[in-house]
Amino acid sequence: VNPGRGPLRFQRPSLPAAAEIERYFSLSRSDRWFSNGGPCSQLLQERLSERVGAFSVPVASGTTGLLAAVVAALESSHVSSGRNEALLPSFTFPATLQAATWAGLTPRFLDVSGEHWHLDHEILERELRARRDQVAVVIAVSSFGTPPPPAVRQAWERSCAEAGVPLIIDSAAGFGAVGDDRTPVGAQGDIEVVSFHATKPFAVGEGGAVFTRSRRTLARLKSAINFGLNTHRHVEFGPGLNGKMSELHAATALAVLDGFNGILEARRRAAFDIKGQLEDLVSWQAEWSRSAWQFIPVLFRDESERTTVENQCRGEFEARRYYEPLHAMPPFREFPIGGGGLDATTDLVSRLLCLPMANDLTRDEVACIGQSVRSALGGGPE
Ligand SMILES: Cc1ncc(COP(=O)(O)O)c(C=O)c1O
Repeated sequence: VNPGRGPLRFQRPSLPAAAEIERYFSLSRSDRWFSNGGPCSQLLQERLSERVGAFSVPVASGTTGLLAAVVAALESSHVSSGRNEALLPSFTFPATLQAATWAGLTPRFLDVSGEHWHLDHEILERELRARRDQVAVVIAVSSFGTPPPPAVRQAWERSCAEAGVPLIIDSAAGFGAVGDDRTPVGAQGDIEVVSFHATKPFAVGEGGAVFTRSRRTLARLKSAINFGLNTHRHVEFGPGLNGKMSELHAATALAVLDGFNGILEARRRAAFDIKGQLEDLVSWQAEWSRSAWQFIPVLFRDESERTTVENQCRGEFEARRYYEPLHAMPPFREFPIGGGGLDATTDLVSRLLCLPMANDLTRDEVACIGQSVRSALGGGPE
């Protein structure tokens, strides 16, 4: 598959050619305006909003977007300052938690569902009822960028609204995905955050966007990423930061957007082909077909099957385990675990493996991934 070049890489990021970026960046050059909401950032904001149907704020990274989202959520909701907990899954990337701790909140880990791999909505509901006076914000995650089943998202939204707690959804890998009820990533929860990191389907290098349907929250988000300054250049609130997206990144994002539907389609086609080859041998996330496919997460029957596949496929392609769950990471071990424990999280993490993805996986590469996993599991050729 990869003659003379070793195993297929886990990810093979690609960015638009310089000429495609320059087509937009020339707007910034002619205005001599290279950050602080210049012409590319404004245009990107318009196009993102149009695509998603919500207000958008381009940001420097998914993580700065999450930091701003937590600050904006606290500033624009009526949550009393006595509440200092953030409910979030342990089954996620550290940035989800760090957004809470940077805002001075204490994370409380909740379990995910073993079926859809997102925050378990029944556990969330129970926890919000029991801890109404402590919870300041919920940060749910679209695990692997797959939007949650609509009934799950609606249950999150209902429980949060009843408890008067803002709902942020970290959909870092999900830009471009659309839920089963046609709700695009970006239009979920009170605030939704996506990443444009080089390894995401919408790859800019570093970057991201925050979405909201509330004008009030939009104003707070814009302040939060601009040192807490309001439109009159007065500091409105303390915990501001510089989270603005530069014009060069915004120009790159505009160029990516021009070809993005083709990118999504190519990734989807490769993932569907691999799924077709592995169908009976592994389990898939509920509503897997809705994913934007940052990579291909599959679940084996048990940990030893996963180890077999890892060992036998190593020469053909690079597969990766997902990160250890946050509650097991040393600096986060002191944080409390919600009612019900984290059994589904622990089980998922022990059996999951992520298979490679790229915008330009060839037919041979796709066949190699599927066949290598099949033969490692004794499934024989398709
Ligand atoms: C779930 C999740 N949240 C947040 C982030 C952070 O995004 P960024 O790398 O753009 O800061 C990531 C990055 O991989 C992620 O997977």
